[in-house]
Amino acid sequence: MKQLIRKCVESLTPYPPGKPIEELERELGIFGSIKLASNENPLGPSPKAIRAITENLNKIHQYPDANAYYLKEKLAHKFGLPMSRILVGNGADELIELVVHTFLSPDEEVIIPQHAFLLYETFAKSFDGKIITVPLTNFSVNLPAMIKAVSANTKIVFVNNPQNPTGKALAKEEIARFLNALPPDVIVVLDEAYIEFATDPNIVSGLELLDSYPLLVVLRTFSKVYGLAGLRIGYGFTSEIIAEGINRVRQPFNVNYVAQVGALAALDDDEFVKKTLNLIREGLAFLYAQLDRMGFEYIPTQTNFFLLKTPLGAQETYQRMLKQGVIVRPMDSYGLKDHIRVTVGLPEENERFINTLEKIIS
Ligand SMILES: Cc1ncc(COP(=O)(O)O)c(C=O)c1O
Repeated sequence: MKQLIRKCVESLTPYPPGKPIEELERELGIFGSIKLASNENPLGPSPKAIRAITENLNKIHQYPDANAYYLKEKLAHKFGLPMSRILVGNGADELIELVVHTFLSPDEEVIIPQHAFLLYETFAKSFDGKIITVPLTNFSVNLPAMIKAVSANTKIVFVNNPQNPTGKALAKEEIARFLNALPPDVIVVLDEAYIEFATDPNIVSGLELLDSYPLLVVLRTFSKVYGLAGLRIGYGFTSEIIAEGINRVRQPFNVNYVAQVGALAALDDDEFVKKTLNLIREGLAFLYAQLDRMGFEYIPTQTNFFLLKTPLGAQETYQRMLKQGVIVRPMDSYGLKDHIRVTVGLPEENERFINTLEKIIS
C-alpha cells in the first residue's frame, strides 16, 4: 500500500483560528458576544472599499485581472517601486505559502523565531523543510541568535515585525545589520502585517532595505488597518528575481475581482486609516491603565493586540471568558501557556473585556 498522506504532512495540525461569534452563540445559546481574538479592525471595513465593491459587483461573472494591474499600479505609485517587484495574494498567508512553495527544496532549513505566527512552520513543513526555531529574548526576536542559527543549508528566514503574538518590534538598524550578516543565498521574509500600527519612531518598514538585499520579501496585508480580512488580500515587495519565481507557481487568478476592487479603493481611504490608528492608540491607553490598576502583567505592544499573562493560565481564562461571551485567543498553541492575546476593540468592547476579566479572576 502506498502512504496516503505525505510524510511531512503527517505531523501537522490544522491552524486554530479565532472562534467565530456565530459558533460561540450557537454552542452556548447566548447573544451579544464580542470577538477580540483575530486582530481584526473593530471599525469594520474601509467605507471606500465597501462603496467600490458595491458599485462593481455586476462584474463578477468575469475572471479577475490575473496580473492585478490597477492594484499593482497604485501600490507601485504609493510605495515607489516598479510593478514587477510587487506581489499580491489571497491574504499575506498565500504569499507566505508561495515563497515556500517556489523556493524551498526538501530538507533545506527554515529559521523561525519561537512563538511566531504558526503558518510559517506549517507551510515550511508541508514542503518538507527542516524547521530551526530560535528562542526569543524577553519576548523579542533575537536576530543575532538567528544569524548564529544559519547554516550552509538555510534557505528561508522568517521575521515578523512587529511580531505576532508578542507585539514587540525591531528597529530598522537591527534589521539592516541582520541582513548584512546573512549569506547572499538566504531568502528573508519580513512579515509586516501590523507595521501601520507601530508608534515607536525607530520602527520603519523594511521597504527601505529592499535595494541592499535582493532576496528580501516584505509582506503587508489589507486585513488589519484597512479592515478587509474577509476579502482575503495581501501584498508584498521584493526583487524581480523573487517575484518572477513566484509568478511561475501562483494560481493565475489568486486574487479575486472583489478583493482587487476593494483593496484599490481602500488605499485611498486615509481618513479610515487615521480613525483606526487613533482608536487603537486610545484603546491601548485605556487597557494599559486598567490592567495596571488590576496588577496584571502585559507586554506593551506596537500592534493592535497585546499579550496578557493570566494567573489562571491560557485555556482556563479563555474558557471562562467564552462563557461570558468574550472571545480572546489562548496562546497555548503558540507555546505560551500562561498568556492570552487580546485584540484592541471599540471602547465599549475594551470596557467589557476589562469587566469580564475582573469578574472571572476574582
Ligand atoms: C503575522 C501575520 N502574518 C500574516 C497574517 C495573514 O494576513 P492575511 O489576512 O493577509 O492572510 C497574519 C494574520 O493574522 C499575521 O498575524
